[in-house]
Amino acid sequence: MDGNGRWAEARGLDVAEGHRAGARALHPIVKTAKDLGVGSLAVYAFSTENWARSADEVAALMQIFAETVDRELAGLAEEGVHTQFVGRRDRAPDWLLEKMEGLERATVAARRLHLWIAFDYGGRAEIVEAARHLANAGGPFTEEGFAQHLYAPEMPDPDLVIRTSGELRLSNFLLWQSAYAEYVFTETLWPDFGPDEFRSALEDYAQRRRRFGGR
Ligand code: IPE
Ligand code: MG
Repeated sequence: MDGNGRWAEARGLDVAEGHRAGARALHPIVKTAKDLGVGSLAVYAFSTENWARSADEVAALMQIFAETVDRELAGLAEEGVHTQFVGRRDRAPDWLLEKMEGLERATVAARRLHLWIAFDYGGRAEIVEAARHLANAGGPFTEEGFAQHLYAPEMPDPDLVIRTSGELRLSNFLLWQSAYAEYVFTETLWPDFGPDEFRSALEDYAQRRRRFGGR
């Protein structure tokens, strides 16, 4: 969900306002995914590298995540959205972690859409962690055996990854899981990314011919 900072800058606003606008952009996309019958949606909210931002920006982000869990995501339980967080859980402030885990518990029985929120997530950190767990377990040292030790083994590999804000890189997102993902890149900044563009990205994806290395 990239481009919050540039969205704010273009309007002469504080970066926190960009993150607020970004947080508000999530619900319409989740709702559209659900209405279109998408079974699983993962969003990248905060990376293992984002802690390096200024203390003010990190504090604002934690506050906005908590507000978002309260305001936007809590209602999703009734809409059938099962929400789970993917990433490290040892660095978030306790008061935020409690809200996150409360939301997971509250939505555990929801079945229409599985929403994964990558938070304090980094693909490399996840791979190293999985390797450590797999070694402790003593195998099996296979792709399937390895995948059992990812943060959320039940999360399906993404079919499509949408990258907003004109950046043409992966930025450490679902490195293992995206091995055969299709990509759509858009110039649109995340706060401006709405249901129409989401739908057109899915239509673009539907035209792709996936061969997974075969013919
Ligand atoms: C993405 O927006 C949100 C987070 C990383 C938390 P950015 O803050 O990276 O926005 P830009 O890249 O500065 O526009
Ligand atoms: Mg960015």
